[in-house]
Amino acid sequence: MEFKQALQNRHSVRMFTNQAVDLDTIREIIREAQLAPSWVNSQPYHVYLVVGEALERVRNEQYQLEQKGTKGQSDVPVMPRTEWTVQAQQNMAEWTKGLGEAAREMRPAAAKLYNAQAVIYLTLPKEYSPWSLYDLGAFGNNIILGASDRGLSSMTAYQFVKYPKMLRQQLPIPDNEDIIIGIGLGYRDATALVNQITASRMPLDKILTIDK
Ligand SMILES: Cc1cc2nc3c(=O)[nH]c(=O)nc-3n(C[C@H](O)[C@H](O)[C@H](O)COP(=O)(O)O)c2cc1C
Repeated sequence: MEFKQALQNRHSVRMFTNQAVDLDTIREIIREAQLAPSWVNSQPYHVYLVVGEALERVRNEQYQLEQKGTKGQSDVPVMPRTEWTVQAQQNMAEWTKGLGEAAREMRPAAAKLYNAQAVIYLTLPKEYSPWSLYDLGAFGNNIILGASDRGLSSMTAYQFVKYPKMLRQQLPIPDNEDIIIGIGLGYRDATALVNQITASRMPLDKILTIDK
């Protein structure tokens, strides 16, 4: 696929079909994502690829926690919306307002981890340098673009990492690693209302300053 097409086709998908994702394809996507730059080539991240029965165990555990209304407590702290810049708050409010009918499907879809057929958990060693967050973001973005290039959809979400204690119990993630983000992979369910959610972007001139 043309790079530009892979870039433009990618959207967050909040409901995947039951079609499994080929493990070798995901390995290849991750290998290519390793081409991302990182601080002094530190490559500080670790990847946990969870599929099959292991993923169903996590999905079930998370569902139970969601049903009980358990509050999320991600390793990376969540900043209240009111503490973001005015512009960021405006963008978030606009996106939330635009959800429309699909908003009702968001929570149930999230509680089932969007029916993702594979989840990639990205971790950093505890006490990581803030630069490593930049590196991990670049790595994660390479993953979702690599997926898009192969006709796979993705979902980058806090939702995957809101219960790190449970994840450490279910997965071989040691205590000395912070679970930063999760990326769900699969094929987009075209019938799901929740997949009609769109997200606009600010006009370029609002984020770009050119100094000549
Ligand atoms: C770090 C991060 C965490 C996110 N967490 C969630 C989440 O928990 N739930 C959700 O519905 N979307 C989540 N998203 C998706 C964003 O809402 C989405 O990327 C944004 O609205 C832009 O839409 P697009 O990805 O379709 O272009 C997250 C995105 C990022 C980058």
